[in-house]
Amino acid sequence: MANTILIGAQWGDEGKGKIIDVLTGKADIVVRSQGGNNAGHTVIHRGVKYVLHLIPSGILRRGKICVIGNGVVIDPIALVAEIDGLRNLGITIGGNLLISDCAHLVLPYHRLIDEQRELRQGRARIGTTKRGIGPAYGDKAARTGLRMSDLMQPIVFSKKLQAKVIENNKILQALGAKPISFREANESYLKAGESLRPFVRNTVVYLHRALERGKEILFEGAQGTFLDIDHGTYPYVTSSNTTAGGACTGTGVPPHRMDRVVGVMKAYTTRVGEGALPTEDQPLTERLHSLGREFGATTGRKRRCGWFDAVATHYATMINGIDELAITNLDGLDDVDPIRICVAYRLNGKRLDVPPCDATQLANCEPVYEEVSGWKRSTHSVRKFAQLPSTARKYIKYISNLTGAKPSIISVGPARGQTIIL
Ligand code: GDP
Ligand code: IMO
Ligand code: MG
Repeated sequence: MANTILIGAQWGDEGKGKIIDVLTGKADIVVRSQGGNNAGHTVIHRGVKYVLHLIPSGILRRGKICVIGNGVVIDPIALVAEIDGLRNLGITIGGNLLISDCAHLVLPYHRLIDEQRELRQGRARIGTTKRGIGPAYGDKAARTGLRMSDLMQPIVFSKKLQAKVIENNKILQALGAKPISFREANESYLKAGESLRPFVRNTVVYLHRALERGKEILFEGAQGTFLDIDHGTYPYVTSSNTTAGGACTGTGVPPHRMDRVVGVMKAYTTRVGEGALPTEDQPLTERLHSLGREFGATTGRKRRCGWFDAVATHYATMINGIDELAITNLDGLDDVDPIRICVAYRLNGKRLDVPPCDATQLANCEPVYEEVSGWKRSTHSVRKFAQLPSTARKYIKYISNLTGAKPSIISVGPARGQTIIL
């Protein structure tokens, strides 16, 4: 396998964890480059369901090295809990996990400010995961963040944290929230830091040496293209570059070392949190929820569901340079007939082929649909493309034509084996 960037081509939760797990077999190293524990990547491994938040999904497989890159924001307490949780389930975590010393930290005031901002915004809220992601990346951009390297130097860390707690307590009080205790935060973070110390190092140098030795790297994207801070449906986005470029800046691996980009998309569309979802459809949402599907892996919130949006995914193909598509959850449409596909938006009487930049305009876009026949048959046990019902094959070919990228993986169930490789 070549060095591969895997990204979500919609609004997150496309099934990246499942596809990473499929591709990990051929990779040596799996790297996270952005996001934090707002992510929830589901992998079914040996019949057990795991949800990974900060640790790359490759950790479940023996002999794979997992790296948390410099572009990730790390909540050390959450990371220690995730490591302990996996160890309790029998997963080995030792020399197979590396953490960048340049990664920024999520601190308790980030979580509280995230929560308070959401509360105060009321109906204009973003619907964040309340994990402190926005405020942590805010501090990074403002050059006032604390990093893993600080946490590795207790005296330096405590001094910096104290100044930050004083500053942020003023903000918290102004927002009407309780201030935090420096002593408690300092103690719990230093304790977590000691647990993480064996994993922390310069991951850029590690990755470059691995590339020199011919190792193959899989870059595990978190969130999805339309949650990207630059290209997403701003302000209803997360605070990192979720698109392919983020894999370079978030790891220190240069663009010319990347060989291919795999875009993961569901056969329909989902979104969790606020912001426009042009193809949202209540009956489809209810149908999927009634099957026990589409509940958030991190927050348990109900995901909003809609028809496949070729305007959005075509744009995602452009931004990310998607070479190959992994289409997941095809089985979610097994009983749906007819199936709608959004081929354009209409805004103020004009037809649009790309999503508008402005959030209000996007919210006012009406989808232009085409209808195709469903297959009304279970696809769960299909393992070869030719064995799919002809209407399902047509559907895949149609969405790949509209999107402008070749399908290389079709997923018909959550387990590793429920996969068709083209
Ligand atoms: P991620 O954040 O992109 O890794 O996606 P999530 O894990 O948050 O959500 C995807 C959900 O779909 C998880 O519950 C997966 O187990 C499940 N899943 C992935 N691919 C398939 C598929 O092809 N069929 C079905 N039925 N479930 C799938
Ligand atoms: P994975 O990696 C789906 C959404 C939140 C909210 C917005 C901002 O599992 O695909 P944040 O907490 O990041 O400030 O929230 O982004 N969001 C996700 N939606 N999947 C995710 O991750 C998400 N991570 C954040 O719901 O709308
Ligand atoms: Mg998810």
